Amino acid sequence: MTLREKYPEQIQKIFAKYPPERKQSAVMPLLHLAQLGKGFIDRHDMLEIAELCGITETDVAEIVGFYTLYHDKPEGKLRIQVCTDIACALRGADQFLAQLCERLGIQPGETTPDGLVTVEAVMCLAACNKAPMFQVQGPDGISYHENMTVEKALEFIETARKEVK
Ligand code: FES
Repeated sequence: MTLREKYPEQIQKIFAKYPPERKQSAVMPLLHLAQLGKGFIDRHDMLEIAELCGITETDVAEIVGFYTLYHDKPEGKLRIQVCTDIACALRGADQFLAQLCERLGIQPGETTPDGLVTVEAVMCLAACNKAPMFQVQGPDGISYHENMTVEKALEFIETARKEVK
């Protein structure tokens, strides 16, 4: 089913916010809409959004690739995104990420075998003096966890995991 078939009213409302000659401005809310249902944006969605906005599929794919809140493939129901940018790296973010992944039995960027938890490195999340830190994208939205230890992070993950099962 296409996005137009699935979300006709929502798409109309999104485009109503922008002048017709600026329809490419709708790309981000359309991506958000496309991701709502299945948790990621596939190739068909990108192509359709490109058509709707009058831009190329590559333009859309670049936006999806740039922003950590958009995803082009299915992953865990909980996405743990650890900032490993420079300021966080100076506060031990790389070691935190490595140890967390080791305890979960995965590599950074991978998903646990139960399909519930993906852990990945991302760039600055605007909590540079509170590393190690991560944001979590899950069914209930986004939450931030700062001044983390591996133990605290695992405790959080175990509780959240039970809720999304
Ligand atoms: S560098 Fe990690 S939050 Fe800014």
